[in-house]
Amino acid sequence: MHEVAKGLAGIIVTETTASMVDGSAGHLTYRGYAIEDLTTYANYEETAYLLLHQRLPNLHELTDFQQSLGTQMALEPHFVEVMQRFPKNCHPLTILRTLISMLGVYDPTADDNSLETELHKAYRLIAYTPIFTAAWSRLRRGLTPIPPDKNVGLAANLLYMHTGLIPTPAEVAALNVYLILMADHSLNPSTFTSRVVASTDSDIYSAITAALGALKGPKHGGANEATMEMFMEIGNPENVPSFFTEQVKGKGRKIMGFGHRVYRTTDPRSVILRTHAETLAKNSDNTRWFDIAAGLENLALADPYFMERRIYANVDYYSSVLLYMLGIEPDLMPLVFAIGRMAGWVTHILEQRLENRLIHPEAQYIGENDRVWVKLEDR
Ligand SMILES: CC(C)(COP(=O)(O)OP(=O)(O)OC[C@H]1O[C@@H](n2cnc3c(N)ncnc32)[C@H](O)[C@@H]1OP(=O)(O)O)[C@@H](O)C(=O)NCCC(=O)NCCS
Repeated sequence: MHEVAKGLAGIIVTETTASMVDGSAGHLTYRGYAIEDLTTYANYEETAYLLLHQRLPNLHELTDFQQSLGTQMALEPHFVEVMQRFPKNCHPLTILRTLISMLGVYDPTADDNSLETELHKAYRLIAYTPIFTAAWSRLRRGLTPIPPDKNVGLAANLLYMHTGLIPTPAEVAALNVYLILMADHSLNPSTFTSRVVASTDSDIYSAITAALGALKGPKHGGANEATMEMFMEIGNPENVPSFFTEQVKGKGRKIMGFGHRVYRTTDPRSVILRTHAETLAKNSDNTRWFDIAAGLENLALADPYFMERRIYANVDYYSSVLLYMLGIEPDLMPLVFAIGRMAGWVTHILEQRLENRLIHPEAQYIGENDRVWVKLEDR
């Protein structure tokens, strides 16, 4: 019998230079740069370039990259035709997963895994994910998709294509911060999934489709949606104490957006997101959701159950408030997570390709042995 590492906890299966998560110190870096610096000085495209090319772009390279993304941002009619036939009540992440898979159908280079072609597809995936997200957000409301504005960056474009309104600089800045913070996080479940698929020499679209499947669950990328729904269920800051005592304390209900497999201290992304969520809330004169979140966090932080287990707010906690303040409905939140994480997924797929070894763990068999065959008619 071997020791079983349930949930692969603590198992190191590969090396990476993309991001470093220090779960004890609460520190996260991309290619050696602290997220605190990236969220202060960079935008999402700069961060995506850093991940993909392993260094920061100069002005010329950044402009080229943004233009390259911009030229790929287009919603061809075959996608709209299919989307119009999708049931409106389907989970939007299922829609996005299907559309990303379709992107492979229409790419004649889909099965060419050479590095240069893969990089081109990586750009394509980064460009299309906000297009699909915004288009579906409108089509399901019976509205026509809005073509992207090629003169603005990805964050501004997403908000513009979603609402049809020009976003304020503060809104664009907040979304950039969110997308940067989602861009990579070492070997989280969806990134691991994408690397497992890539390790079989399968195509990048299959790997990203699988990653989106892994992201969907409320223990991973679906947590921002579940968190916002929890805040809505609480409804009012005055209801926070009763929610905490009647549902959480001793009642076994998890606080969504709390807890993390790796962080045993405050998730550094949550600290940054809290500030931006608070600013957006104050600017909008609607602090209800922020106040609920902050009130519940304060109760949990002072509670022995959470203190003993070292459970803190994770990235999805305040990001749900931030995204809601930007007009993103809860069930679209995991898609915005995917827009940010796309840079990390494609980076890890390229990294996997460079030094590939098929990922193939083993399981300890604990089932029955030597069973006697019983004929069908005798069962
Ligand atoms: C993220 C998560 C799946 C981590 O899972 P994990 O590493 O397997 O940790 P566990 O679920 O085993 O949790 C360890 C202990 O903390 C408790 N716990 C973990 N997260 C909790 C939460 N959000 N609220 C209350 N208790 C929690 C567990 O009940 C468990 O208690 P026990 O030791 O008495 O059994 C888990 O914290 C969770 O479900 N969080 C809510 C969903 C979420 O926000 N996901 C996004 C992650 S970025």
